[in-house]
Amino acid sequence: MRKNVSLLVTVLVLLSVALTACAPATTAPSGGQQPAATTAPAQGGETQPAAGGKLEMFSWWTAGGEADGLNAMYEIYKKEHPGVEIVNATVAGGAGTNAKAVLSTRLTGGDPPDSFQLHAGLEVEKYEPEKYLQALNDLYASEGWDKAFPADLITLLKYKDSFWGVPVNIHRSNVLWYNKQVLADNNIEPPKTWDEFFAAAETLKGKGIVPLVIGTKEGWEAGHTFETVLAGVLGADAYNGLWTGATQWTDPKVTEALETLKKVMSYANTDYSALTWSDAAQYLVDGKGAMHIMGDWTDGWFTSKGYKDYGWAPVPGTQGTFVALSDSFAAAKGAKNQENLENWLKVAGSKAGQEAFNPKKGSICARTDCDPALFNEYLKSAMQDWSKDAIVPSVAHGAAAIEKWATVYKDILTTFATNGDVAAAQTSLQQACVDAGVCK
Ligand code: GAL
Repeated sequence: MRKNVSLLVTVLVLLSVALTACAPATTAPSGGQQPAATTAPAQGGETQPAAGGKLEMFSWWTAGGEADGLNAMYEIYKKEHPGVEIVNATVAGGAGTNAKAVLSTRLTGGDPPDSFQLHAGLEVEKYEPEKYLQALNDLYASEGWDKAFPADLITLLKYKDSFWGVPVNIHRSNVLWYNKQVLADNNIEPPKTWDEFFAAAETLKGKGIVPLVIGTKEGWEAGHTFETVLAGVLGADAYNGLWTGATQWTDPKVTEALETLKKVMSYANTDYSALTWSDAAQYLVDGKGAMHIMGDWTDGWFTSKGYKDYGWAPVPGTQGTFVALSDSFAAAKGAKNQENLENWLKVAGSKAGQEAFNPKKGSICARTDCDPALFNEYLKSAMQDWSKDAIVPSVAHGAAAIEKWATVYKDILTTFATNGDVAAAQTSLQQACVDAGVCK
């Protein structure tokens, strides 16, 4: 990978060192904490069919594209281990809004699923990994994953010197999706700057088309949109500084980013607080809306709908910047089906598993050896951008900040989307950084 990823890695290393120093003490769960007896992991990816039993896999992937990708991996698992019953435990809600709370309760209550979805980066701190998760270092060694994943992603995945999840993909958050026909009919080129965006928005509004569709129902989407605005207005370096304390949230550029989001919201659908991200994307499919800022799981969702007339561009101002996140699968301590769980992680980390999952999910492989020919035009372009852009971490999806901070950040932005109070939002954002121990 490129050296600009080291920006992302620096953010994470600094924050994880800070967290190591101030990890809170907690009570041990009542359930069993020792991994069940296992068969030795097969060397070099060779796996014997498991005898039977169950595999409980926990995620929030219920939408089109997400569920399809997961099922594609399950199919591979079922072929290799036909005797195992897969329990697909899902709690719907984009970005894990509902799932993460349920998961915490299950982990601390001693009733963990075998494996669960976990964003690469600082999100793992929320689950107190040394207490509730299995370190996967041996599996990384036996499966050769330290060589299969890019070196800097490996660093990103390490927390307190161990691996806690197997990455299955890389997603991009800063994508502007658009309905090609709607833009063409109105002689509009995909906007590269916010000025171009607002000029296009005026034209579209005059024609009765919603310029920008958004849903903020689940409480993370405004924060998602804002991280992409921030990355463009501040640039990669200053954006990274927001998560290390090198950039204060009182910075005039943060004011400018808030003013920009406020103006963007004045061109949004008025029913935004009642819609999810996929409800909002439906506006594009129906030709009622022109543009939508969302992660590239939207590519998987459009594909699952059979919708093809969409285009994509970096969010205005973010050309050359890739706001990144990665989904991984973790292993719970006290998992009831240890052998089945290990076999699942092997599928998730394998070339075959990732090539089956990612074209449907709308993400690119975490592995470096996937065949690009299996991916659509959008995903091929994402692969290219990933290899040359400045990579910065997403806060809305677990990479940039610990969960407590990320949650406050998202709440501030959800309120701001409706009340547009720039000064109040900026003060609260700075305070959240102070409370996280990162700003002074
Ligand atoms: C992200 C997750 C993606 C996708 C999205 C919408 O947090 O990493 O895989 O599921 O939420 O739910």
